[in-house]
Amino acid sequence: HHRDTSRDEKLLQLCHLLKENIDYYDWVGFYFRNGEKEELILGPYAGEPTDHTVIPFGKGICGQVAVSNQNFVVPDVSAQDNYIACSISVKSEIVVPLFVDGVNIGQIDIDSGVLDPFTEMDERFLEFVNAEVAKLF
Ligand code: SME
Repeated sequence: HHRDTSRDEKLLQLCHLLKENIDYYDWVGFYFRNGEKEELILGPYAGEPTDHTVIPFGKGICGQVAVSNQNFVVPDVSAQDNYIACSISVKSEIVVPLFVDGVNIGQIDIDSGVLDPFTEMDERFLEFVNAEVAKLF
């Protein structure tokens, strides 16, 4: 059910809206869980194309959130051991899981070229965004 065109279009517009309106949001995308294969699959996104369209559970910041079901704020990606670099310009990252009826179905992932830009306001805001997104499922 992740191939619904109108939902993907809405998510794509949302990614662009967030990227264009928040100056330190430089890449905004959704990953969705494939539980059978224990991997994340890249969904709609705004920003530079990434090679990392499939991420195994546990790998990188995104893969760790697939396992932990918790927000992951990385103020400085260079200080992370388990990190997958998408672009050398990325300095920080935030990943917030997407729950539908209490089940983690994926996540919103945001990269920034700014060091340590994310606050609890970003966490609360992205939790709100994901709660709205969950209504599309
Ligand atoms: N940096 C992520 C990989 C996804 S890209 O940021 C789009 C990670 O470590 O999981």
